[in-house]
Amino acid sequence: MNRVAIITGASRGIGAATAKLLASRGYAVCVNFRSRVEQAEAVVAEIVASGGKALAFQADVSVEKEVAALFDATEQTFGPVTELVNNVGVLFHQCRLVDMDVERFARIMTTNVTSCFLCCREAMRRMPDGGAIVNVSSLAARTGSPFEYTDYAASKAAMDTLTKGLSAEAAERNIRVNGVRPGFIHTDIHADGGEPGRVERLTPSIPLRRGGQPEEVAQAIAWLLSEESSYVTGSLLDIAGGRK
Ligand SMILES: NC(=O)c1ccc[n+]([C@@H]2O[C@H](COP(=O)([O-])OP(=O)(O)OC[C@H]3O[C@@H](n4cnc5c(N)ncnc54)[C@H](OP(=O)(O)O)[C@@H]3O)[C@@H](O)[C@H]2O)c1
Repeated sequence: MNRVAIITGASRGIGAATAKLLASRGYAVCVNFRSRVEQAEAVVAEIVASGGKALAFQADVSVEKEVAALFDATEQTFGPVTELVNNVGVLFHQCRLVDMDVERFARIMTTNVTSCFLCCREAMRRMPDGGAIVNVSSLAARTGSPFEYTDYAASKAAMDTLTKGLSAEAAERNIRVNGVRPGFIHTDIHADGGEPGRVERLTPSIPLRRGGQPEEVAQAIAWLLSEESSYVTGSLLDIAGGRK
């Protein structure tokens, strides 16, 4: 069977690294993005230049109709989607919960959790038996990210619970559903939170004494999608340099 993977939020960071790695392993990949068209096209160009198959597709995956369009476009280009990586995640400026407004909280939940639900549902409706889904959560689901992003942390905990529940439902079709929980990874997301140097500040709290690279998260995602993890489902894998 041809392996066809959708990676949401793949114009940069962990999503881009995952798209490149999967393409190098023979998957046809859909590089989904919301706004950074040039970066998404650069990811696709790099994959194609290395002999891989890739398509860039703009869709806000928190919107039901756009998720359907994303799956339609991928299927029309490459055939049925066999793997899905729900990688989209956003956060906003660091602050205490007491200072968060309800609009911010709703946007975090819609972008991080509703998108995961919508893409999982679409995948379950269309994916052949034997497929795989990986949801990109965060170690924040366990720590709660006090003083910084309690809203984001709560959204990631919701994703973990969705992963657990869906994995049991999907098992009857041999579709495996797992999650990864990265710790502090060197990407641009920290600048969105108002602190580009956040990983460096927090490095002393990481047992391995360094932040992670997006490619190190991509390796774990690729393993969870592959036959090498054929007996793993409903699992949440920390990729956090030993941080608990
Ligand atoms: N970096 C870390 O330290 C870390 C730690 C734990 C967990 N994570 C999780 O890992 C995932 C990736 O993180 P990252 O650091 O690589 O993030 P990033 O560099 O900020 O990239 C986020 C990606 O998501 C896309 N995106 C955002 N909203 C979208 C939407 N509604 N629809 C479609 N695409 C959307 C962005 O596309 P555009 O730019 O085109 O809008 C971008 O490609 C996230 O779920 C994050 O929560 C990251």
